[in-house]
Amino acid sequence: MPSDLAIKTDSPPKSRLRRGDIVELVMEKIADRGKCIAYHHGQVVFVPHTLAGEHVQAKIVKRRKKYAEAQLLAVLKPSPGRIPPRCEYFGSCGGCTLQHTSYTQQLDDKYQLVCEAMTRIADLPDLEIRKPLPASATYGYRNKMEFSFAPYRWLSRKEIDSEEIFDTSFALGLHPPGVFSKILDIHQCHLQGKRSTAVVNGIRTFAREHQWIPWNWRTHEGFLRHLVIRQSVHMPDFMVNLVTSEYDTERMAHLETYLKAKHPYVTTLVNTINSTPAQTAFGEQVETIYGSGILRECIGELMFDVAPGAFFQTNTHQAERLVNVVRDLAGVTENEHVYDLYCGTGTIALSLAGYAARVTGIELIENAILNARRNAALNGIKNTTFISGDMLRLLKPDFVTEHGNPDVVILDPPRAGMHPKVAMQVSRLNARRIVYVSCNIQSQARDLLTLSDSYDAVVAQPVDLFPQTHHLENVVLLEKKVS
Ligand SMILES: C[S@@+](CC[C@H](N)C(=O)[O-])C[C@H]1O[C@@H](n2cnc3c(N)ncnc32)[C@H](O)[C@@H]1O
Repeated sequence: MPSDLAIKTDSPPKSRLRRGDIVELVMEKIADRGKCIAYHHGQVVFVPHTLAGEHVQAKIVKRRKKYAEAQLLAVLKPSPGRIPPRCEYFGSCGGCTLQHTSYTQQLDDKYQLVCEAMTRIADLPDLEIRKPLPASATYGYRNKMEFSFAPYRWLSRKEIDSEEIFDTSFALGLHPPGVFSKILDIHQCHLQGKRSTAVVNGIRTFAREHQWIPWNWRTHEGFLRHLVIRQSVHMPDFMVNLVTSEYDTERMAHLETYLKAKHPYVTTLVNTINSTPAQTAFGEQVETIYGSGILRECIGELMFDVAPGAFFQTNTHQAERLVNVVRDLAGVTENEHVYDLYCGTGTIALSLAGYAARVTGIELIENAILNARRNAALNGIKNTTFISGDMLRLLKPDFVTEHGNPDVVILDPPRAGMHPKVAMQVSRLNARRIVYVSCNIQSQARDLLTLSDSYDAVVAQPVDLFPQTHHLENVVLLEKKVS
């Protein structure tokens, strides 16, 4: 319950907080994006890098109508869940938000967030919510990292405080929190393995020595845009995807020679060309410079060939657990027809195929569907159909007439959740069971409320695919209401 929990303040009681104010706060609970919330004379203040129960000193850096945001200055009374962050860029880099929190506490906090979303947004106060399935590796777990180049380097607080002189004309790294135009020069990211670090640092040195110029998003000039590294956990595959503004065969030949000599574990080099102003690692052209141009990975018994731009869960071990949870909750039997909506490259669809009569997958991105079909063939799976198109346009009665009614529906939409009309269309499919997988509990809870007229939520099983960050996958089983 909101209360006046501030223990001491520099500003007079009840006055509206202003930018620059320094206040002492008692943090109440974890909230959106891993920030904790405090109430300062009834005013809501969000402070990153704090934990519930801590007494902190913080500086107000943003003032909005309904809340303020503050920067942590000092922890006056730490929580027992506080630990020293492992990464030197913690606080400056937007990648990890929870490194100051013990893993046990991270799981407790994520559980709290699921309970709160399911109660407050989905209106499901009695839903059985299981404890999140923890990750066995809390660092080095990512099979994909995307780094960006910039012709200027954003310095971290630690770098500024060191008073060292830095050359700020080149950066290859990650963004500060929420600031996509700035790049920190990252020399070690603990979320991916040592080989990834070696390639990032190697390519930085190589590019600088050869005077390859980073892309400038203001002037739209320059060559180097992004560096995407994908590593297989179960196979020896290691993909380097360099995203550039144009295709330059000579430069790519030099890079090939360099990688083969210095990083022989790189099994394939691809060059994605993005000549548009859009700051994205996707492009209009993908050239395979050497190797197969794909990354092969396994989920359970199945093999997946992942194309450079294709979606694939970024934590392979936990993706296996996620797929097992979906399979257990869906309880698919051999006579049942499954719809896998938002199927991506077919990870879930193909993992259910062996248990079902057939599986029909729908996905917007045509390349992902081609990938899914190839993966079905790769695994000798013959009872899947993959169709590309926009869910809103495709999921209509004539689709059901053509492909048959589903007994079970799997939903795994993007972060924004389902379009309200799609949620209604899903309801009308009349499936016996729905398993809703989501990486955004807020949008999932909103969609569950829409589905609640026709479906009862039975159980939720969160799976932690993203240790050190506030992200989480949540799986909810819904059963058709008996009328
Ligand atoms: C969270 S991913 C699901 C991935 C997949 N279940 C898997 O495990 O690989 C969400 C997917 O929804 C797709 N998508 C986004 N908007 C869509 C739409 N309007 N219609 C169909 N698919 C869409 C995205 O391309 C993406 O592949």
